[in-house]
Amino acid sequence: ENSRFSKLLAINEKTKEFYHHILINTKVGEAAYLYLLDRGVKKETIEEFKLGFSPPQRNALKLYLDNQEDIDHTLLSETGLFSDRDDNQLLDRFSSRIIFPITDHRGHTVAFSGRIFEGDNSETTPGFHSAKYVNSPETDLFNKRKVLFNYDKARPNIRREGEVYLFEGFMDVISSWQAGIKNGIASMGTSLTQEQIKQMDRVTDKVIIAYDGDPAGLEATKRATEYFIEQTHFSIEITSFPEKLDPDDYIKSRGKEAYKDFLLHGRDTLMSFLMKYYRNGKNLKNESERISYIEQVLKEMTTVNSPVERELYFKQLAEEFKVTQDTLKEQFQQHVFENQ
Ligand code: UTP
Ligand code: MN
Ligand code: MN
Ligand code: MN
Ligand code: MN
Repeated sequence: ENSRFSKLLAINEKTKEFYHHILINTKVGEAAYLYLLDRGVKKETIEEFKLGFSPPQRNALKLYLDNQEDIDHTLLSETGLFSDRDDNQLLDRFSSRIIFPITDHRGHTVAFSGRIFEGDNSETTPGFHSAKYVNSPETDLFNKRKVLFNYDKARPNIRREGEVYLFEGFMDVISSWQAGIKNGIASMGTSLTQEQIKQMDRVTDKVIIAYDGDPAGLEATKRATEYFIEQTHFSIEITSFPEKLDPDDYIKSRGKEAYKDFLLHGRDTLMSFLMKYYRNGKNLKNESERISYIEQVLKEMTTVNSPVERELYFKQLAEEFKVTQDTLKEQFQQHVFENQ
């Protein structure tokens, strides 16, 4: 019920303040704070996103919350903030991690994610393997499939700009925000869901997919384009980052002006992205690979609504592969027919 919902939120709010305080005001949080500054995150950005740090002492959060009067202590075990129960002790799931609060569309803090950082020796301890980011589990507040990182803050900007940047990660959103790109959100990984697309559809009809430039990001981009096409009338553009760079890396290595320029002028149309995608790993000097490439492109072109745009691709293919546009159009019609 409603009061249960707000009680859980109240605990999350206290928790967020606690982690944030540890990061910016205490010795315990100093290494994490310096790590963020070193990554180029400014103090005002840390404030804006209420980033935090969870102390290594695994009962620290519990002790803090025990002393808070205006929360419902019987609900602590249902917040997802604690993991293993050791002798009925609630141990902080995120200890020794940099904290990214995750908000829902109304700005309520519904979950957290915690990142290990280089000052943390768990990364260098032999035999110790741990995920880079640990996230809250599903709770009554947190529906993973639905939430998009930074959606609440980005929403008015998405409306104003008429488009949304879809990033993979927290740091991509945060660094972009700091560079002045305030209509960015993140799917928090490479598996975008139908529910997340529906959230975006409420505020815009245009998405720029700006996933990481690595193979995982490329494959995820391809999958994302399929979901968008299946489900919506979104117009889709793609920024293909140089390999090994994600948006945050790009800003760091080339500066924010170059980044903003790349976001605006380095966009591919869906078809040019797909052409690059299908070329990947093919030897187009080989006849059968060439034919299969042309087939793939013609098939994808059935989703292109603009006759002008289609004409450009026919022309491009005809010139590159020395086939007549009539032949291409005939083949294209077959695919249109198959799709009906
Ligand atoms: P990335 O591996 O690209 O991390 O995962 P990143 O965002 O570039 O992080 P930094 O720059 O190393 O700090 C993209 C997103 O996938 C989710 C996180 O939301 C992350 O931001 N992710 C990644 C997880 O949930 N768990 C993981 O172990 C890794
Ligand atoms: Mn719409
Ligand atoms: Mn990635
Ligand atoms: Mn990344
Ligand atoms: Mn990164």
